[in-house]
Amino acid sequence: MAEELNIQTNISKKEKYELLLPQIGALIEGEPSLIANLANVAAALRQTFGFFWVGFYLVDGDELVLGPFQGDVACTRIGFGKGVCGTSWKEKQTIIVPNVDAFPGHIACSSASRSEIVIPFISNEKVIAILDVDSHVLNDFDADDKDGLEKIATLLTPCFG
Ligand code: SME
Repeated sequence: MAEELNIQTNISKKEKYELLLPQIGALIEGEPSLIANLANVAAALRQTFGFFWVGFYLVDGDELVLGPFQGDVACTRIGFGKGVCGTSWKEKQTIIVPNVDAFPGHIACSSASRSEIVIPFISNEKVIAILDVDSHVLNDFDADDKDGLEKIATLLTPCFG
């Protein structure tokens, strides 16, 4: 497919996720490289929503290791149960943090990040990676983001092989 997204700007966030999902499907279809697919999805999310930081951390032993991302440089390794990402891994569920300063143990990669959402990728009941999205705006994530990003995670999970 053409490497170009087609998302109108004057529509709701929910509608943007609905338009984006099949386009991500087309982007990753037939491409066996996990790195290439994660890189393009990080770019597609940042391009569509203008998020401050979008990226993946991949499970490696007892740590998460930084994968493809869009945004400022970030911490490379996060332990199991540490920060929002490690907590999402431990709890095997999506975590929405309306105010990062109010989340005990939040790992601040950038002081400009104010709110955050983390989605775990689960395969055979094990977390294999997480998707982390940060906003420079407080309380920027809601059920529409959770729903949209979880659908994207489900679409991407088979790419992990
Ligand atoms: N805030 C995350 C760390 C990753 S960065 O935000 C990119 C956390 O608390 O796990």
